[in-house]
Amino acid sequence: MSATGTRKVLVTGGGTGIGRAVAETLLRAGGQVVVTGRRADVLEALARDWPGKAFALPCDLASPEAREGLLRRAAGLLGGLDGFVHSAGQVVHQPPGHIGEDALRAQLEINLVAPLRLGEQALEVLEPGGAQVFVASTLATRPIVTSAVYSAAKAGLLQVMKVLALAGAARGVRASAVLPGVVETDMVREVRLSPGEGPLPEPEYARRQEAQLAGLRALHPLGRLGRPEDVGEAVRYLLAASWLTGTELVLDGGLLLRE
Ligand SMILES: NC(=O)c1ccc[n+]([C@@H]2O[C@H](COP(=O)([O-])OP(=O)(O)OC[C@H]3O[C@@H](n4cnc5c(N)ncnc54)[C@H](OP(=O)(O)O)[C@@H]3O)[C@@H](O)[C@H]2O)c1
Repeated sequence: MSATGTRKVLVTGGGTGIGRAVAETLLRAGGQVVVTGRRADVLEALARDWPGKAFALPCDLASPEAREGLLRRAAGLLGGLDGFVHSAGQVVHQPPGHIGEDALRAQLEINLVAPLRLGEQALEVLEPGGAQVFVASTLATRPIVTSAVYSAAKAGLLQVMKVLALAGAARGVRASAVLPGVVETDMVREVRLSPGEGPLPEPEYARRQEAQLAGLRALHPLGRLGRPEDVGEAVRYLLAASWLTGTELVLDGGLLLRE
């Protein structure tokens, strides 16, 4: 396996959860990263832990103006770029009839439009042999009743990834996606409220959170939720595997095996 794709990498959502684990996996293996997201403090904390190796580049990726030229700025910080990982994302669980307009637009923008636009930039900026990896979800292939917009956006993202794989092939720039099951991050710890349900008082919130996590855990035949590091290792493999492109890698503790 080649190191190309893993040496100088921009990671969106790199300050938290899966994106942070991707960045740390690459750093531990000797790579350099630029991490982006809206919260400067979490990005700068990582940069402080890895001086000269990790760089913070705060950006609201939902803004077309803010994300314009982002890949070139990241390449400027690292002296080139051979990998791009899009882990930034948002989910808002709402059943049909209760899907808010703002939530709909926000999820489409960050989960589908931003990775398409950034992927286009990556085709121009990544060096030959480089790679881009998109964090999709098992919800892209098996939706639940509250995931219409998120599932549609992540399913669309898989098609975007395949088009980018085709478009990049002539220059040897690869593209792939990972489809995680439920991974224990802030996204999953947030309690899913029913329509009309107000904010919950603290003891009730903690009780509901524990029940939610136990319910999600039980969906996975391997008996545990994913860890961000599980996805970090898989993404590093996808970045490095030099004959792999257009691939969807399911990483879900057996979740999709269930009826
Ligand atoms: N956890 C799971 O079970 C699971 C399963 C399958 C797929 N995924 C996917 O995995 C990816 C990472 O999620 P996670 O679980 O690690 O949760 P997370 O910790 O909440 O990560 C989401 C990241 O996206 C960034 N982000 C959101 N909106 C943004 C915007 N407008 N501009 C820039 N950055 C933005 C957030 O940073 P800021 O808030 O600082 O902007 C944050 O770092 C997402 O794409 C998610 O859909 C997660």
